[in-house]
Amino acid sequence: MAVKKYLVPMSSPDINEDDQQAVLETLQTNYLSIGPKIQTFERSFLDFTGAAHAIGVNSGTAGLHLCVRAADITQGDLVITTPFSFVSSTNVVLFEHAVPVFVDVDPGTGNIDPLQVKQAAADIASNDPGKMRKWLPRKYANKNGSLKAILPVDVFGQPADYDLLQETSAQYGLTLIEDSCEALGAEYKHKKAGRFGDFGVFAFYPNKQITTGEGGLVITDNDSYANIVRALRNQGRAPGDTWLQHTYLGYNYRLDELSAALGVSQMKRMNKLLEKRRRVANLYNTKLGDIHGVEKPFISPNTTKMSWFVYVIRLDERFDRDKIAEKLDIAGIPVRPYFLPIHLQPYMVNQFGYQPGDYPITEDLGRRSLALPFSGKMTESQVDLVCQELSKCLRD
Ligand SMILES: Cc1ncc(COP(=O)(O)O)c(C=O)c1O
Repeated sequence: MAVKKYLVPMSSPDINEDDQQAVLETLQTNYLSIGPKIQTFERSFLDFTGAAHAIGVNSGTAGLHLCVRAADITQGDLVITTPFSFVSSTNVVLFEHAVPVFVDVDPGTGNIDPLQVKQAAADIASNDPGKMRKWLPRKYANKNGSLKAILPVDVFGQPADYDLLQETSAQYGLTLIEDSCEALGAEYKHKKAGRFGDFGVFAFYPNKQITTGEGGLVITDNDSYANIVRALRNQGRAPGDTWLQHTYLGYNYRLDELSAALGVSQMKRMNKLLEKRRRVANLYNTKLGDIHGVEKPFISPNTTKMSWFVYVIRLDERFDRDKIAEKLDIAGIPVRPYFLPIHLQPYMVNQFGYQPGDYPITEDLGRRSLALPFSGKMTESQVDLVCQELSKCLRD
């Protein structure tokens, strides 16, 4: 299949000579896995976040999955989470045959609505089937699961609204797993994303704020959680196990040394990388200013630091987002419909019986959202070009 040439890339990793040198040097050593680089990478996250433990893994999904395992979420358990996210945040619950309990999102930020989370937790804890039914999926409603966790997502680089989420998880004894895969460096009320739950998880795919190629990392302050996450990423080997002893059923979720070396180098200039992304987001904010029918990203006053992962606009209802996306694509501008609601993905409809209308705010955002080309490397003239073409497509 021919690869389409666009006028502007959808995203670009920001790799410099130091990054290249770091990977090359590692390639010339004897350690391509389980070596010193992953330790240095993990240390950089301890320094940056202040967490007690940092465990590098080979994807954000792997990191989230290990949190689910460490929190002992198993068959039939319930996890409150958001349908407006990348599918991984729900999939990791399904991997363990647990059940995602979706609640709708805040229409401004697109982050999980903490008031609805509180209500869902109260109704499920009440064990009253009438109250529980409102929250449980159609194809589940008659079974009895126990509520184990809340899994909020810091969508597009903006932290969820944590005060009430933390209060609710404490009140009902729930594990709080923060999916910060899109929000490295963001802050909520001057505290860093990833630090609000029992676990925080980051991801480093090439479109992320820093990249390791593929990669992820879990932070936690809890010693026993850290021990189990470390063991499970390494084929279930507990401390003291030899290479062929496996205390637990584990995985190969290790981050290799080449990826870790790139991560170490990227973390050294993380603030610069975030600043470059902020500059591009500000350019978009200014240049989209007078395009009629375009809603710019809403940043909550609680977000004391935004960490721009993607730049997502919302189109006015009178536009057909998919048609506009198609026109832009033909004009050489790549865009993405971030996010298509998780509950309406075919496998979710099939397994749980979700229907359109179940989560109206998520669905509204899913219909109107459009991620524009975005990276810290975009030039002002590229931003101009995207804005001009968007303006044209909305006019025609
Ligand atoms: C919100 C969210 N969660 C989880 C992930 C999973 O990360 P990875 O692609 O590294 O598995 C992503 C990645 O895009 C994400 O955006």
